[in-house]
Amino acid sequence: MTSKNLFFDQSKLKRCGKGCIIGLTARIRKPEKVSLGTNSIIDDFTYIPCELAMGSYSHIGSGCHLIGGKGKVTIGNFVNIAPGCNIVTAQDDYRGGGLTGAAVPEKYSGKAIVEPVHIGDHALLGCGTVVLPGVKIPEGMAAGALTLLNKQKYEPWTLYAGIPAKKVGRRDGALIKAQAKKLLQEEGE
Ligand SMILES: CC(C)(COP(=O)(O)OP(=O)(O)OC[C@H]1O[C@@H](n2cnc3c(N)ncnc32)[C@H](O)[C@@H]1OP(=O)(O)O)[C@@H](O)C(=O)NCCC(=O)NCCS
Repeated sequence: MTSKNLFFDQSKLKRCGKGCIIGLTARIRKPEKVSLGTNSIIDDFTYIPCELAMGSYSHIGSGCHLIGGKGKVTIGNFVNIAPGCNIVTAQDDYRGGGLTGAAVPEKYSGKAIVEPVHIGDHALLGCGTVVLPGVKIPEGMAAGALTLLNKQKYEPWTLYAGIPAKKVGRRDGALIKAQAKKLLQEEGE
């Protein structure tokens, strides 16, 4: 693991496995609620204010935001999140009567919606993908650039794209899993 960060103390992370790299300017607001497996990467200018459990060999590209301080994101193994993705775990009540935004005292706010986001093993999110609260991304699912993932049922090893996301193709799950197995064997894991 790289040992320095401008915005937080990496030694306070709940867990950080061997071989992880966190960019100098990545910001993790609650390091005690963030765990990383082995050989994972969080790139520069990524902002993580929420709880995060991230597996091994996974990558969050630069300029991603995990939105919602009270929320939780789980990310499996071999996941790739391209730059500029927004993963939302909490939001204001868009149809209610309360004031909105973090600047407003809680007693004046509407009821916040907080729902965890789960991103399964081998998922791949293209640049600028937006993931809304409560979304479950199954194993091997991929999203093209600028895709909006709302709360619908997604199929594993399927490629989606667009707003809202529609099926546009399939991925070769067997081959991808075989590659992962080989890598883990070579690394002795
Ligand atoms: C999804 C993607 C991989 C598909 O590429 P492809 O296999 O060459 O597929 P095509 O370009 O033939 O597109 C297939 C269909 O999906 C649509 N489509 C593809 N990407 C789309 C996107 N990002 N948003 C909306 N629609 C998209 C195409 O318009 C096409 O629709 P049609 O059949 O009605 O004409 C590619 O378009 C993409 O978005 N790549 C992400 C790049 C990225 O963010 N990389 C980050 C590093 S991993």
